[in-house]
Amino acid sequence: MKAIIYTEYGGPEVLQLKEVEKPFPKDDEVLIRVHAVSINDWDWGLLHGDFINRILNGMFRPKRQILGSDIAGRIEAVGKNVTRFKVGDEVYGDLSGQWGGFAEYVCATEKALALKPSSMSFVDAAAIPQAAMLAIQGLIDKGKIREGQNLLINGAGGGVGSYGIQIAKLYGVKVTGVDSNGKLDLMQSLGFDHVIDYEREDFTKNGKQYDLILDVKTNRSVFDYMRALNPNGTYATVGGSLGRLLQIFLLGPLISLFSKKKLLVVALKTNKDLGYMNELFEAGKIKSVIHGPFPLNELPEAMEMFGKGEHRGKVVLTV
Ligand SMILES: NC(=O)c1ccc[n+]([C@@H]2O[C@H](COP(=O)([O-])OP(=O)(O)OC[C@H]3O[C@@H](n4cnc5c(N)ncnc54)[C@H](OP(=O)(O)O)[C@@H]3O)[C@@H](O)[C@H]2O)c1
Repeated sequence: MKAIIYTEYGGPEVLQLKEVEKPFPKDDEVLIRVHAVSINDWDWGLLHGDFINRILNGMFRPKRQILGSDIAGRIEAVGKNVTRFKVGDEVYGDLSGQWGGFAEYVCATEKALALKPSSMSFVDAAAIPQAAMLAIQGLIDKGKIREGQNLLINGAGGGVGSYGIQIAKLYGVKVTGVDSNGKLDLMQSLGFDHVIDYEREDFTKNGKQYDLILDVKTNRSVFDYMRALNPNGTYATVGGSLGRLLQIFLLGPLISLFSKKKLLVVALKTNKDLGYMNELFEAGKIKSVIHGPFPLNELPEAMEMFGKGEHRGKVVLTV
């Protein structure tokens, strides 16, 4: 089968289109013919091999050579212990930890997959898993979003932000989005009530306060975020600078001892809310915002664009 592999850590130039052996499903796995796959920040980290990702995928060379976690495709074979799926089913899910999605075929366990509604295209489905789960778990599970609140999403023009705004609007909240100037028009078209260009305005220093902040970038201090929260406000981060995340993880519980403000870190529960996304999608309440799709052989160029932050919504490739 065709796959995009990497045998050394580096930039998008180390990605190569190769003919590799087709995988064979174990007893508890299914074999999927991949039709679409999206790029996540984690693919970028694994490609470059920062310290944490080298612990996961090999200190000197990548052990797993095919990246790509968020896939959508059709089941082509099932292992003998598989009970939830059959050959021909259209499925999607986040295979992070195992990866292998930048290829014509990939194997996955049942728990990593959900049935794809027929009204959802493979491209729409491949965009959903990681970004939408982070948005749902940040806003609903951790953030306890409620009607009438004033919400801010930082890093709002990418994957998490494009699902986050649509989920937030189901709760009748007012939403401010922060991102670079080139994405503000897209954000307004998605329903953000107010948009901020982070190069021109610092939302933690403009005197405004929010009931809930969902952060994708986490590049400021705990004290900056405290200042931007209302007295009972909640800040939930899904990712960003490791040092800043650690600060929130350690200081967040201490702060809640003497303040009603909460600072929380979201740990992704992969695929947990795919059923909820299916319901929203089928009811026409949510859509995927797609950059592309591009053919799989253009992954290096698509990855380059992703790394520069030039994408709007989710970058998807078709296989
Ligand atoms: N918590 C977990 O368990 C877990 C698991 C997986 C992934 N993650 C994290 O989840 C996040 C995924 O987010 P995503 O898919 O939405 O990423 P994304 O598509 O790359 O979107 C991020 C957006 O932030 C913007 N941005 C860059 N610098 C900014 C700044 N200083 N201020 C405001 N916005 C800025 C980017 O645009 P420009 O570049 O144009 O500025 C981009 O539009 C990542 O942080 C990832 O590490 C967390």
